[in-house]
Amino acid sequence: MKALITGITGQDGYYLSKFLLEKDYEVHGTIRRSSTFNTSRIDSLIAEYEGTEKFKLYYSDLIDSSSLTNLISLIQPDEIYNLAAQSHVAVSFKNPVYTSQTGIGTLNILEAVKNSKKNIKYYQASSSEMYGGANEEKLNEDSIFDPKSPYAASKLFGHNMTKIYRESYGLFCVNGILFNHESPLRGETFVTRKISRAVGRISNEIQKSLTLGNLSASRDWGFAGDYVEGMWLMMQYNQPEDWVLSTGETHTVEDFVKIAFSAANLKWSDFVQTDKKFYRPNEVNYLLGDSTKAKTKLNWNPKVSFKELVHMMVESDTKLAEQEKLLIEKKLLNKTWE
Ligand code: NAP
Ligand code: GDD
Repeated sequence: MKALITGITGQDGYYLSKFLLEKDYEVHGTIRRSSTFNTSRIDSLIAEYEGTEKFKLYYSDLIDSSSLTNLISLIQPDEIYNLAAQSHVAVSFKNPVYTSQTGIGTLNILEAVKNSKKNIKYYQASSSEMYGGANEEKLNEDSIFDPKSPYAASKLFGHNMTKIYRESYGLFCVNGILFNHESPLRGETFVTRKISRAVGRISNEIQKSLTLGNLSASRDWGFAGDYVEGMWLMMQYNQPEDWVLSTGETHTVEDFVKIAFSAANLKWSDFVQTDKKFYRPNEVNYLLGDSTKAKTKLNWNPKVSFKELVHMMVESDTKLAEQEKLLIEKKLLNKTWE
């Protein structure tokens, strides 16, 4: 089996590649040209599969339709996982046009899939952000979408187009409506990783404090490794449908902070402060998912609990901070945090 993954350099790109390679897939991925190296998450896979045909990377961009069409025609994948996006909600308020363009990029891939002679299965990375989170309710595949950010609106466009192409052209196109999923490879400006990074550095005495925004926002946080398995299961189901993946538990940012600091035997209130600059123009207050459908029909079950996730991230970031401390002491790194 051959899979093409857009956004392979991101958090989910790493976990999905690893999962598919272990299933003996040939994995092809798109990367963006950058003035600095942007493959750190997948460098271990590049090294492991060097000189084989199992893991290949190509320059592309969701906005460049010709690059996507050419790649799909060259690779002839069995499955495409479209993970690429400007995925930061707060940044989407600052860069609304670009964020929306990455949403429209979905259409470039769907067109190429439609025009391909091969029956290619397509996975769209939809998001729980599309619900808007105004009410404290459990959200499933039938819940109403009410996007609150350019990011969410862009994701809703991709979601709707995926459904439209499925229904209009009989393509195997699925939307995975994924609630927040995290890991030691989470981008460092998302709140969970910002917290675990700070805890690691504070406990190593190379950071003094942590400034956050809205501590009362609630999210349904799971482990990315569990969620990529769900993506694959959706693509193996006998028909294309939309699926919610979530843990069914919600916690506030403050809950995450408390567990993370206590994992390092630190009193959180000694270090954490808030600043309005980290608040969003329009907040998604509460997200809680209901994955009954995926649990029943796909036999998908998240394995890592909320507490285990927080501990996994703090442990990993404490090790990273120990290395940073050593470099600072040897004067090989000249940096301070807050
Ligand atoms: P991520 O770590 O931010 O990775 C995003 C990936 O997209 C990166 O590889 C990035 O490349 C690439 N990308 C950005 N703009 C692009 C463009 N114009 N053309 C091509 N590639 C581009 O995100 P993630 O957490 O892995 O999430 C994967 C997908 O699931 C995203 O679409 C996200 O919106 C969606 N999602 C995530 C969650 C979650 O909680 N993680 C939940 C629901 C949905 P660079 O490395 O070069 O920046
Ligand atoms: N990033 C960030 N930084 N968020 C903060 C901070 C801070 O300093 N302080 C509080 N928060 C709050 C945000 O206001 C939000 O309510 C919550 O923490 C989570 O923010 P993020 O970690 O940035 O994630 P997100 O929920 O906005 O979006 C993530 O999950 C979506 C799925 O629901 C991203 O991965 C999206 O790509 C994904 O679709």
